[in-house]
Amino acid sequence: MIPLSELETHEHDVLIIGAGGAGLSAAIESSAQGMNTGLICKSLLGKAHTVMAEGGMAAALGNVDARDHWKIHFRDTMRGGKFLNVWRMAELHARHAADRVRELEEWGAVFDRTKDGLINQRNFGGHRYPRLAHVGDRTGLEMIRTLQDHGIHQGIEIYMECAALDVVKDKEGRVSGVVGLWRETGKFVVFKAKSIIFATGGGGKAWEITSNSWEYTGDGYAMAYEAGAELMDLEFNQFHPTGMVWPPSVKGTLVTEGVRGEGGVLRNSEGKRFMYDYIPEKFASETADTEEEAARWLAGDESARRPPELLTRDVVARAINDEVKAGRGSTHGGVYLDIAKQRSAEDIKKKLPSMYHQFKVLAELDITKEPMEVGPTCHYFMGGIRVDADTTMSNVEGLFACGECAAGMHGANRLGGNSLSDLLVFGNLAGKGAAAYSKGLTSNPEVSEEDVNNIIKNATDILNRESGENPYLLHEDLQANMQVNVSIVRTKEDLEKGIDGLEKIKEKYKNIKAPGASQYNPGWHEALALRNLLVTSEAVARAALIREESRGAHTRVDFPGERDEWIKYNIVTKKGADGNMEVSKVERPEPDAELKRVGESELEALEAEVAAEQE
Ligand code: FUM
Repeated sequence: MIPLSELETHEHDVLIIGAGGAGLSAAIESSAQGMNTGLICKSLLGKAHTVMAEGGMAAALGNVDARDHWKIHFRDTMRGGKFLNVWRMAELHARHAADRVRELEEWGAVFDRTKDGLINQRNFGGHRYPRLAHVGDRTGLEMIRTLQDHGIHQGIEIYMECAALDVVKDKEGRVSGVVGLWRETGKFVVFKAKSIIFATGGGGKAWEITSNSWEYTGDGYAMAYEAGAELMDLEFNQFHPTGMVWPPSVKGTLVTEGVRGEGGVLRNSEGKRFMYDYIPEKFASETADTEEEAARWLAGDESARRPPELLTRDVVARAINDEVKAGRGSTHGGVYLDIAKQRSAEDIKKKLPSMYHQFKVLAELDITKEPMEVGPTCHYFMGGIRVDADTTMSNVEGLFACGECAAGMHGANRLGGNSLSDLLVFGNLAGKGAAAYSKGLTSNPEVSEEDVNNIIKNATDILNRESGENPYLLHEDLQANMQVNVSIVRTKEDLEKGIDGLEKIKEKYKNIKAPGASQYNPGWHEALALRNLLVTSEAVARAALIREESRGAHTRVDFPGERDEWIKYNIVTKKGADGNMEVSKVERPEPDAELKRVGESELEALEAEVAAEQE
């Protein structure tokens, strides 16, 4: 047993894990609340999936269309999420997003401008009005840059290239700290903390084709699960419709929705603008301004106001999938996305500079002249750690979560652009919530030496055993299994196969071996992350098997369409007393009556109500 006194130790009032938009926002707010704040990230500061939200952050600023209002944003978000969102979270988000965006501007974010000098906003799928505040196609990057700059000057202690392994709790079940691993030296470190905020992002690395980079291994889900937290709605995984499909080395790399927001159109190998064939009738009549426009839209009239490429991501991703399966795909198994015929070369380079460079450098293709080839790529988890909407605390005392690793805000499907504003709004609320909790503690939670040693032993066993399974090959098996069996369209048979496959990988994992020493050892890190990916993948597959309907991003071919009885339930996953995963249907609480009224309002009536309020 290593005595605690022999381990490097740090102590904080609030400890944040993850340094993307949510983690940085939480850290800034916690520090502003006077808390001694630490932030650990397993990668370099600033290298976060936040930068993959390129096209903008959604907020009802009303700069481009003054009719926009938080109530319309809220309604769009609920509809996009197929009404499975936690109502209060969607409300908090829609109400506070505009203030948070303005605050980011005050902190130095250099947004694109309207002619009048206001923050410019663009169209994105599912948003009624142009709502995405943006910086060309580098919005996430600008957000990270601004938050980093602001945060660093606020005295936050930052621990880079340090991987969190697991949470420790005191005898009363309150969190008391985290054991971490310096990636470079392989040395362990103990962080004592009164409260912990997970801002660890998602788990896209469970699939072969993903926009996520190596960091996104479901660490927050697995650590929270091991600590006794409940996970919710893990079956909802967003496949962004447009990832690169060629060349193979960059398959899955994001092609921002901003391309379609700027007028890009999708065509199949026959040159057909196929999205007109996939407009849900109900959606057309609810979304178009008039019945006549809806009819023109459905008939494929390109002059109708709303391009079908800006239907919600679940609809567009499935349509692309169907076109490819029907043999109408592009040369390399995607479809064509064309902006060259819609916008001048000058406009494209100005509005989509990263896309221009990305295709030039990675695919030797000039998007001002030729169409791109694109296909669905795993992008985002709507489900995650179950939290209280206002404080963001989970069912484990002192454990908070915000951003992609938290559940509830986006329901069954996230609207593009709502993630960046989610990070700002809920990062801020998590900072407040954790600070209030830490301030309220009358005693410091104790860190148990035994628990710390168990975590260290689990990690070092991987190095110490004589021989065993190769972590890279096991990860590849896991990805292949998820890509085929727990994919964009699902069936009971496939999901059962997927779970069976995961059980086999879990068995092999018990004997995983990373050769080499503890100093910078990527194989060891891969093995440690694989534990988290396994928990995450199992939670996804088991939740997907239970939800017998198709809603938002979860498509069950054997249960087509939304089923009324299923809107009543969330799928909640937790670690059972026997150590096995328990997955169950849990009834959702009744929404606040006023929120329900706003969310379910007819668009025309709500617009009239908002117009009256704005007078
Ligand atoms: O397409 C994009 O730019 C991604 C945005 C998002 O996921 O919110």
